[in-house]
Amino acid sequence: MRRAEPFRIKMVEPIKLISREEREKALIEAGYNPFSLKAEDVYIDLLTDSGTGAMSDNQWAGLMLGDESYAGSRNYYNLAKVVKEIFDYNFTIPTHQGRGAEQVLFPLIIKKGQYVLGNMHFDTTKAHIEIAGGRAVNLVTEKAFDTTTPYDFKGDFDIERLEAFIKEKGAENCAFILITITCNSAGGQPVSMANIRQVSEIGKKYGIRVFMDAARFAENAYFIKKREKGYEGSSISKIIREMFSYTEGFTMSAKKDALVNIGGLLCFKDDEALFNQCRSMLVPMEGFPTYGGLAGRDMEALARGLGEGIEEEYLEYRIEQVAYLGRRLTDAGVPIQSPTGGHAVFVDAKKMLPHIPGYQFPAQSLANELYLEAGVRGVEIGSFLLGRDPETGKQCESPLELLRLTIPRRTYTNNHMDIVADALIAIKQRAHTLKGYEFTYEPKILRHFTARLKPIE
Ligand code: F0G
Repeated sequence: MRRAEPFRIKMVEPIKLISREEREKALIEAGYNPFSLKAEDVYIDLLTDSGTGAMSDNQWAGLMLGDESYAGSRNYYNLAKVVKEIFDYNFTIPTHQGRGAEQVLFPLIIKKGQYVLGNMHFDTTKAHIEIAGGRAVNLVTEKAFDTTTPYDFKGDFDIERLEAFIKEKGAENCAFILITITCNSAGGQPVSMANIRQVSEIGKKYGIRVFMDAARFAENAYFIKKREKGYEGSSISKIIREMFSYTEGFTMSAKKDALVNIGGLLCFKDDEALFNQCRSMLVPMEGFPTYGGLAGRDMEALARGLGEGIEEEYLEYRIEQVAYLGRRLTDAGVPIQSPTGGHAVFVDAKKMLPHIPGYQFPAQSLANELYLEAGVRGVEIGSFLLGRDPETGKQCESPLELLRLTIPRRTYTNNHMDIVADALIAIKQRAHTLKGYEFTYEPKILRHFTARLKPIE
């Protein structure tokens, strides 16, 4: 039987659609950069799925049981117990969010000049690799760059390229391998169990450690169950345990699949020495090892969210909502990364706006038009985000120009998705009239957050 959302709504937050004129004014004030819009001026906010979801009554109840002791909070021990149950990892460190875990771990395991091999590193992850003196390398399957041809696991590593790279550069020059599940930048695309296993075997063969960037681990597990042969009958819990048996540790932004508004994790299977090193570094950077930048109540909400985020009924609803928006767009001929992935629909702006070259940021142009059309905020994942080559100063060419419509968890209904779809379908009719953009202000580092632009007349 077809099922509706596995929850009912107990509390609501009003949202408002301001007038077209007001939206035009707001966008100009924001320098044609949706990051600079006031959230109040946004009707449906699909900027990110990070920390934007709704907590359950069970999580809110957990907040009241926060133990705010500086050291040894009971919520920490509860969190570590849940981590042990779900991942079978023995050592847990809380952090304020995903990048908190990255900033603690990476300097300890990267030597200057070493490569960090990933399917596709997230932007803060890449930044922390570089701050630690490393070089971030993306080795995702080429299939990820062909948005029209479906493939079940577009987050997979290209195993041949991975091995060839290690052979060419030498294993001693590779700090570690990081498997990002799901692969956010390629379209929230899952990594198959077979691929995780192969990557881990290569790690063993060359003596390179393998870690997971686990922000969307539950969504990845759900895709393995649905798409990978041999896992149809497995429970999500069993799949997760197998996935994490192939790696020795993970960093996690808990603001995604762990269903909290703030929080992160840094966990190890059994490397107690590295765990202890990280705990020492944690103190000056994030906080004492049993709170790591979080309040006791946040850790309780996180412990509870981890359990809720792996429930199959929830995951089915979650992935189906993303697929619903994807289907509405595909049926109307709007080009998207297909099949849809875990947390977002990625519109292929290169295909939709072929008249705007990458260096004039077609996906940014689409994001701005979508805001004007319906008050919907999406985010550019393309050349604007990618930035310039730090050595030559030349704009890098992004293989994909995508508009990410990121869906917060348990937050919007399919009526909201229909507004988004209708707006994009309307824009498609006049896509050829959209303009490219140029900078009026371009910061040097992570420019996309604060840059200002203007349309090219
Ligand atoms: N890794 C991945 C795969 C991510 O998607 C993110 C954040 C991080 C690490 C960093 O975690 O934000 O908690 O510090 N992604 C968000 C996004 C911001 O919009 O995709 P964080």
